[in-house]
Amino acid sequence: MYQVIARKYRPQTFSELIGQEHVRATLDHAIAQRRIAHGYIFAGQRGTGKTTIARILARCLNCVTGPTSSPCGKCSSCLEIAEGAAPDVIEIDAASNRGINEMRELRENVRYRPSRDRYKVFIIDEAHQITNEAFNALLKTLEEPPEWAVFILCTTEAHKIPATIASRCQQFSFRSVEFSQLVDRMAWICSQEGIDADAEALAVLAQSGEGSVRDSLSALDQAIACCGNKLDGPAVRDLLGLYSLASLEKVAAALEHSSTEQMLEIVAELESAGKHLQHFSRELARFFRNLLVSRIAGKTTRLISASPGEQEKLREIAVRFSEEDLTRWLQLTLETYQQLQYSLQPRLHLELGLLRLVHAGRMKPIEEALKSLAPPSAPPSASRPVPPKPIPAAPAPPPARAAPAPQTGPAASLKDRVAAALGQMRGAAMSLRAVEQSELREQGGEVEFLAPRSAAMGLRSPDIDKALSQVLGKPVRKKITLVEPAAAPGTPLQPAAGPPGDEETLKRALANPEVRKFQQLFPGSQVRGVRDLKE
Ligand SMILES: Nc1ncnc2c1ncn2[C@@H]1O[C@H](COP(=O)(O)OP(=O)(O)O)[C@@H](O)[C@H]1O
Ligand SMILES: [Mg+2]
Ligand SMILES: [Zn+2]
Repeated sequence: MYQVIARKYRPQTFSELIGQEHVRATLDHAIAQRRIAHGYIFAGQRGTGKTTIARILARCLNCVTGPTSSPCGKCSSCLEIAEGAAPDVIEIDAASNRGINEMRELRENVRYRPSRDRYKVFIIDEAHQITNEAFNALLKTLEEPPEWAVFILCTTEAHKIPATIASRCQQFSFRSVEFSQLVDRMAWICSQEGIDADAEALAVLAQSGEGSVRDSLSALDQAIACCGNKLDGPAVRDLLGLYSLASLEKVAAALEHSSTEQMLEIVAELESAGKHLQHFSRELARFFRNLLVSRIAGKTTRLISASPGEQEKLREIAVRFSEEDLTRWLQLTLETYQQLQYSLQPRLHLELGLLRLVHAGRMKPIEEALKSLAPPSAPPSASRPVPPKPIPAAPAPPPARAAPAPQTGPAASLKDRVAAALGQMRGAAMSLRAVEQSELREQGGEVEFLAPRSAAMGLRSPDIDKALSQVLGKPVRKKITLVEPAAAPGTPLQPAAGPPGDEETLKRALANPEVRKFQQLFPGSQVRGVRDLKE
C-alpha cells in the first residue's frame, strides 16, 4: 500500500526534525532537568511539526531508557507510539471530539495510573475546537493534575484557547520552516525515494508549502503521481498553479512602461493558455510582496522563499521602482486577489486590477513633486542678509505672544486677549495668525475684523468665535471686512505684498518659471496672492 510521503517521513526523533530549534532545545533541557510540565500548548501553522513533536515528547517520556531526549526507538513504548497504538499515549482529535462526553471520559481516564509506562500523555489535536464545557472539564484536571498526566494541546489558533487553560500550560510557538531547509529536506526525501527532481522543481515544491512541511510534502506526492520519477520545474509549476518569475515579470515590465495595453495583452495570453486567473492574481500579490521585501532588504534574505538566483532577479526588478510604488501595488494586487475569489467575471476583474496598477504608478508622491520644484541650488540661509520673517510653527504660550504691533486702547487689548485664547487652543495656529494680521473693533455686540485677504480663511474658523465668546463672556457676532494690505498696518506676519492692486506683480509672478512649473504639475491651481519676501 502506498503511504503518503508526509507520513512515511514523519520524524521519530528530535534530530530528524527541521526548524523549530527553539522548541527542541527547550524540551531537551526540560527533560534533562526532569522538569516536565503537566500542560503544553503547541501553537502554530499547520504542518510544521506540532503532532510530530508531541509524539516525540511522548516517546522521550515513556521510552524504557527514559525519560530521555534521545529515545531508543526499539522498545515497545517507542514502537507503539510511532504506530499510534501505545496504551498510555492517547490522541484525541478535538475536531471530531468536541464533546463534553469525551472530556469527561478523559477526566475519568486520567485518574488511573498509566497501565505500563511512566506517563499518561494526552495529545489533543485542534485543541481550539473543543467546547467551553469540555474546556472546563479539562481545566479541572489541569488544576489538580495527577503526577503522571501530561497534556499537549496542539492548535493553529492559540488565541482561542481560554486564558485559564493557557496560564496553566507552557506554550511553544511553531514557526513556518525556512525555504532553504525545506529545499534540503525535499532533496533528501527525493533521493530516498529514487525521484530525480531538478533544483527548480524542488524550489517550486518548497515554495508552494509556504512554510508548511506537510503541504510541501503533499505537493511532492501530487507531483510524483502526476509526473512520475522525473520532476522538472515548469511541469511542477504548472501542476501547482504557480507562475515563473519570467511570467510575472511581464507585469513589472508593463508598469515600467506605464503600458495599459501590455497589461491587457497579459490577461489575453493567460486566458488563451487556459490559466487559472485566481492563481495568477495570488501569485502576483506574492510577487509584489517579494519585490517590496527585496527593495527594503537590498540583499538576499530568508524573508523571501526563493533561491539566491531568483532573489538576485527579484532585486534587479525591485530597484527599478520606489518603495512607495511597490507598497501601493502590493495593496492593489491583494485587493484584486480578494475580488477574484468571488468574482463571476474573473477576467474583467483581473483586467481592471492590472489597469489600476498602471494608473497608481503614474501618481507621484507629493514630496517628489515638490522636490522637483526646488530651485536648482538651495540658497543657504547665510547668503540672505535679511531672512524672511518667520511664521511661528506652533502657537506659543500666550505671554510670549505679546501683541506684535502695539496699539493703544481697548481694541488692542481685545486683540491680545483673543490671540491669547487662540494660543491655548489646539490646532488654531491659522486663526491665531489671521488675528495677528487683523485689526479688531468691538461695536454693539459685534466684533469687526479688518484683515487682508490672506487672513480671511483663518478668521472664518469657528475657533475665532470660540475665542471671542471666551474673552467677552458671551457669544458675539463677528464681521470680517477685507481690506487692502496697507490698511492692516504693522503686523509682523502681514505679508508685505506689492503695491495695492498691483497687476504688474501678479503678471510677473505668473511668468516666473517655478510658478509655471508648479501650475503644470498641479493643473488648475491658481495664484491667489503674491508676497515679496524681500520686503
Ligand atoms: N519540523 C518538521 N520537520 C520535519 N518534518 C516535518 C516537520 N513538520 C512537519 N513535518 C512533516 O509534515 C507531516 C505533518 O506534520 P505534523 O507534525 O502533523 O504537523 P502539525 O501537527 O503541525 O500540523 C509530518 O509527518 C512530517 O512528515
Ligand atoms: Mg497535527
Ligand atoms: Zn524506547
